[in-house]
Amino acid sequence: MSDQTATTRPAPPIAEDVAALRARVGQWRAAGEHVALVPTMGALHEGHLSLVRQGRAKADRVVVSIFVNPTQFGPGEDLARYPRTFEADCAALAPCADLVFAPQAQAMYPPGSSSMISLEGPATAGLEDAFRPGHFRGVATVVAKLLLQCGPDIALFGEKDYQQLKVIMRMVADLFMPVTILGGETVREADGLALSSRNRYLAADERARAPQLYAAMQRCAKAIVAGDDPATVLTREEAALVQAGFAVDYLALRDAESLGEPDPARPRRLLAAAKLGATRLIDNIAV
Ligand code: PAF
Repeated sequence: MSDQTATTRPAPPIAEDVAALRARVGQWRAAGEHVALVPTMGALHEGHLSLVRQGRAKADRVVVSIFVNPTQFGPGEDLARYPRTFEADCAALAPCADLVFAPQAQAMYPPGSSSMISLEGPATAGLEDAFRPGHFRGVATVVAKLLLQCGPDIALFGEKDYQQLKVIMRMVADLFMPVTILGGETVREADGLALSSRNRYLAADERARAPQLYAAMQRCAKAIVAGDDPATVLTREEAALVQAGFAVDYLALRDAESLGEPDPARPRRLLAAAKLGATRLIDNIAV
């Protein structure tokens, strides 16, 4: 698509309820078109848009859902102040999405709704789950609802939330959901900071220090690949992060597929979460 087309294309239509979503997707299906879904909580950045473009390259139509899902926020987390930038999001989607699905909380969790999806096993053990208990229950539940409401052929999620991606892949496999889940590579600022809707919370001095998380992770991966003892490397780099003012929740090496214990003969993933002031950053890289 030329730049001119991109800037002149109107914002995509908005479906506010499941009936409107299904009507539109039904028309596409009747015309033999394939559909991609990109679930988001809005506050879109280049990481989201790269998923939408990936969806567009793989399907005829792309639906982007924008819903700040209350059930994945714990008490004391940032649900109330989570950035809501709906108009800017729709404008950003003009060149690349065919429909925005923007339901109200009542449509996703009608009065009396009482079914939630919980997973057990290595994908949900530890890491985020240890610091945000119940988070993946909320994520799995809302993603299952979105998949069932939209019925896409593929759904795309960022690798930046690597554990979330693995939880969703596990759920889809376990429940025989007829959809292919694809991950999109983490998009980074020039200094290495992974793009996140929450980066806007960082104060100027925190923003300046934030890339040190990725830098420490890269040092870890390099040393581990070179044969250094992973436990020693992780302890050393965690101490360096603490020294730089991070409160580290975890810096952990896991099996890249199952997120269970790592085996040097298999692909591994380094995952981290750390707070700078009140802002919690998460990141991960392949080892
Ligand atoms: O990654 C996110 O933005 C959310 O966790 C998701 C997948 C849209 C579910 O609310």
